Amino acid sequence: MIILGIETSCDETAISLVKASANKVEVLSNIVSSQIELHAAWGGVVPNLAAREHLKNIIPVFKRSLKEACITKKDIDLISVTKGPGLIPALLVGTNFAKTLSYLWEKPLLGIHHIEGHIYANFIGDKVLEKSTKLNPKSTFPLLALVVSGGHTQLIYMKDNLKYEIIGETQDDAVGEAFDKVARILGLGYPGGPAISAKAEIAADRHRKNADRRKNVLHESASSPYKSVLQLPRPMIKSKNLNFSFSGLKTAALYATKDYRKANNLSEEDSLPQNFIEELAYEFQEAATDVLVKKTIDAAKKKTPKTIIMAGGVSANKKLDEKMKRNIEESLPSDTVYKKPNTSYSLDNASMIASAAYYRWRSMSKKEQEFSLDNWKIFQTNASLKLE
Ligand code: KG4
Ligand code: ZN
Repeated sequence: MIILGIETSCDETAISLVKASANKVEVLSNIVSSQIELHAAWGGVVPNLAAREHLKNIIPVFKRSLKEACITKKDIDLISVTKGPGLIPALLVGTNFAKTLSYLWEKPLLGIHHIEGHIYANFIGDKVLEKSTKLNPKSTFPLLALVVSGGHTQLIYMKDNLKYEIIGETQDDAVGEAFDKVARILGLGYPGGPAISAKAEIAADRHRKNADRRKNVLHESASSPYKSVLQLPRPMIKSKNLNFSFSGLKTAALYATKDYRKANNLSEEDSLPQNFIEELAYEFQEAATDVLVKKTIDAAKKKTPKTIIMAGGVSANKKLDEKMKRNIEESLPSDTVYKKPNTSYSLDNASMIASAAYYRWRSMSKKEQEFSLDNWKIFQTNASLKLE
């Protein structure tokens, strides 16, 4: 079947077409129009500006998506759209567009949870996931998902498709939000994740070169991990539960910056030296990823999943991926499968919405599928939609 996906929950206007069957979910087009430059000027996403841009972009993005996929109205079997969580003005543009299309084209409509989309982004291109049975012992389930985005930080345990048990979550800021806030403290602009990551990489290169130099001079091993001169906390890393907290880490980064300015007679307006920015970005990224990985391993030891996946924008972070891979290899059974989304599907996109919609559609009875022709009349956007 051919599924149209629509995503406008934050600052990307995204429309995709996928071809889905039990064999695989295949992407025919994945168009994303980003508003990053517009929001960068404000240091974060402004909901009403986002909605205005979505309104401007949605028809051209829609047309391009159809054209690239070589698909017309008659080919489409199902329309899917993010119905929450997200920014209400932004969500409304996508949901109203989807409802109108469903009404005019007389096609069924499904509203999808944004995080469900991020989870199913992992399985684009794969054979459809089935539950473990005697006939199917090689199932992907049970599965543990570390969800890391701008709005969410959660550990979710899944016994089967679409069955979610939240076993840990942040008590305050999401980790993506912390990346964005620390980037702002360091004057790195929006979005913060990629900027922090790039600066941390420069610091890591410097540490490697310094270690090599020491090794040459002293003829000794330089393999011990680098300990930053700037030390930030690893909040809740030793707590017995599987929850997170990133607000204190962000505040510690803020105070480290304030202390540095004071010690070096810099005013709030003076720019910070690159060396300091790189070192703080490095230490912040180390602290955040240490906690994410430790809690994921703790959760896996408790729940013994067959598969561990990452989902959401922060899953694009290379350091997090490296550490996760290494720790899974070192601490969990050797047949544990680890996956993260392909880079094109880790940040907000609409292929992930269409992919999740396929799993929803398959789980519905014929009657429920028929009723979804009328969904345009009833379904509501929900800024704080729960995953269930
Ligand atoms: O999933 P996403 O695109 O949107 C939400 O659902 O929130 O995630 C966006 C978040 C932002 O906070 C952004 O800074 C972060 O993902 N991000 C990263 C990286 N790329 C994006 N964080 C760390 N490292 C990255 N490479
Ligand atoms: Zn997202």
